[in-house]
Amino acid sequence: MIVTTKDLFRIAYGKFAVGAYNINNMEQCIGLFQGCTASQAPFIIQISKGARKYALVKMLEGLIRTAEELFPETIFAVHLDHGDEQTCYDCIDSGFYSSVMIDASHYPFDENVAITQRVVSRAHAKGISVEAELGMLGGVEEDIKVDEKHAMLTDPDDAARYVQLTGCDSLAVAIGTSHGAYKFKGRQSLHFERLAEIQARLPGFPLVMHGSSSVPQEEVLRINAAGGAMDPSARGVDEDEFATAVPLGVTKVNIDTDGRLVWTRVHREYFRDEPAKIDFRDPGKIFMAEYASFIAHKNEKLGSAGRLAEIRAALG
Ligand code: 13P
Repeated sequence: MIVTTKDLFRIAYGKFAVGAYNINNMEQCIGLFQGCTASQAPFIIQISKGARKYALVKMLEGLIRTAEELFPETIFAVHLDHGDEQTCYDCIDSGFYSSVMIDASHYPFDENVAITQRVVSRAHAKGISVEAELGMLGGVEEDIKVDEKHAMLTDPDDAARYVQLTGCDSLAVAIGTSHGAYKFKGRQSLHFERLAEIQARLPGFPLVMHGSSSVPQEEVLRINAAGGAMDPSARGVDEDEFATAVPLGVTKVNIDTDGRLVWTRVHREYFRDEPAKIDFRDPGKIFMAEYASFIAHKNEKLGSAGRLAEIRAALG
């Protein structure tokens, strides 16, 4: 069942975070629905501009609608990840999306506010909610690359002013994460003190953590052992830290890179071990099963597993 992102956030706030997973193809879609059914967790399907281009807008919509029919127990929202203004309008007008993200975080504050205000007014007219971003994460997302030295933690006073001026429904905050596989050198923690300051100024307001893959060392090592060439110093967010972030207002956690690592490991190992095979359905089946367990594991860490009955009751 497709629900509004707003309802999911209202129910989740302070208790658990909803996993927001990017999908690009059928295998990821099936694995995601299987994993969330097995773990009885609500979720957010994220569609990026890149995914809309790769898998074609209508094809993705068809996949999701069909999955909704095949997995009738599931409860989820459909969200545009890192939209520009025009893509937000396309998604708002399509009537398919529960929420859109306008990412104007690379513009100066006033311009970010003006763009976000325009998107919020078009979205709210159709009952769609808007995620916006203030501060700057490092790493590469879609066609935007931000050097670590230009990454900037979200300023708590600006965050409160920004939410008030824009009317956005949730806010992506920069608290030390970055997009992609290379987030940290060595062990590093999230900036919880900054998160607490933001929450103090925006009590009850849903905060979003982008760049939240954990980049398991084991995945990186297995990919490299099967012919990959990833930098072994790749590090991500410690998934045990989600539990600390939830009471501080984090209600949505974005995970994309970790799923790519599962795909890459499964396919590299399969073709290394079966060099004469050419049936892509064989590794495809392994991937779907592994992706489903990966999703179920993340939902446990986010505290969203086992929540479907509670959500159904809260939705009435
Ligand atoms: P990761 O690259 O850490 O998976 O983050 C994904 C993300 O934030 C998508 O918006």
